[in-house]
Amino acid sequence: MNAPDPFHDRVAVITGGAGGIGFALAEAFAARGAKIVLADVDEAAMRHRAGRLEARGSEVLCVRTDVTQRTSVAALADAVWARFGAAHLVCNNAGIALAGPLLEATAEDWRLTMDINFWGVVHGIEAFAPRLVTQGRGGHILNTASMAGLVGMQWLGIYCASKFAVVGLSESLRRELAPHGIGVSVLCPMIVETGIVENSLRVRGKEIPAAAPVSQPPAGAMKGGVVTPEEVARRVVRAIERDEPYILTHPEQREFLRRRAARLEAAFTPSGEIL
Ligand SMILES: NC(=O)c1ccc[n+]([C@@H]2O[C@H](COP(=O)([O-])OP(=O)(O)OC[C@H]3O[C@@H](n4cnc5c(N)ncnc54)[C@H](O)[C@@H]3O)[C@@H](O)[C@H]2O)c1
Repeated sequence: MNAPDPFHDRVAVITGGAGGIGFALAEAFAARGAKIVLADVDEAAMRHRAGRLEARGSEVLCVRTDVTQRTSVAALADAVWARFGAAHLVCNNAGIALAGPLLEATAEDWRLTMDINFWGVVHGIEAFAPRLVTQGRGGHILNTASMAGLVGMQWLGIYCASKFAVVGLSESLRRELAPHGIGVSVLCPMIVETGIVENSLRVRGKEIPAAAPVSQPPAGAMKGGVVTPEEVARRVVRAIERDEPYILTHPEQREFLRRRAARLEAAFTPSGEIL
């Protein structure tokens, strides 16, 4: 017997679904027949985007959600069950990216980044994973990390710390949910054509009014080509179908990862011996 289609007639929840990669995921899943739940702090953008999906015949629920708040994400799960009675695909995708030297990092920048990028994912797992297990119909959790969660990068120290945490958490969760037939993938793109830099500075400005210096990311913080959110979404759809643990998006990632693996390998043989 064929495995059930992971998208058709299934319910997909996407945090940070009002724009960028999150909305591209929504479009790709909807094109495959999924019912969509957009969960974002930006209510106006979310409603506007939902209208686009509905115009193409998709069923969409919008729930204003702040992923930094445990209660807000729990209320999201309640709203999803109230409307659809189920969820099958949960994308913990909301995130921000602040750049600057670690020596200039403020406690507020650390807290804001970890609250959204790390705690946002934790809250999504807490709210949805036990329900997916109880539901007993399989499913998939997609956590959006970054290439910055696989390789430490200059000027992206806070972001890297938050995204490395998401990669580790995803690897552990994958092992724990496999016996329940629930897949876990971690999305690790390099540069994607979205408004993340401007959006993040706007969020930071609202949350941290103190006039601490805001650094624009240097051109070389993350080197590589730029792909569209739609290309990323195509990769995600394929990876979910194949239940792949890591989703990489740029061919140049291979060389960066190879160099990191070589640096780790060298740690075993500083004097020609395995320590
Ligand atoms: N764009 C890139 O180059 C890139 C590269 C690697 C990883 N990523 C990751 O992809 C994810 C999506 O980023 P994007 O590029 O689409 O950015 P984006 O700014 O276009 O989208 C992020 C969305 O998250 C929402 N959001 C922010 N704070 C929130 C909160 N507290 N609660 C709920 N929603 C919130 C925003 O309103 C926005 O709609 C992020 O986790 C980001 O770190 C992006």
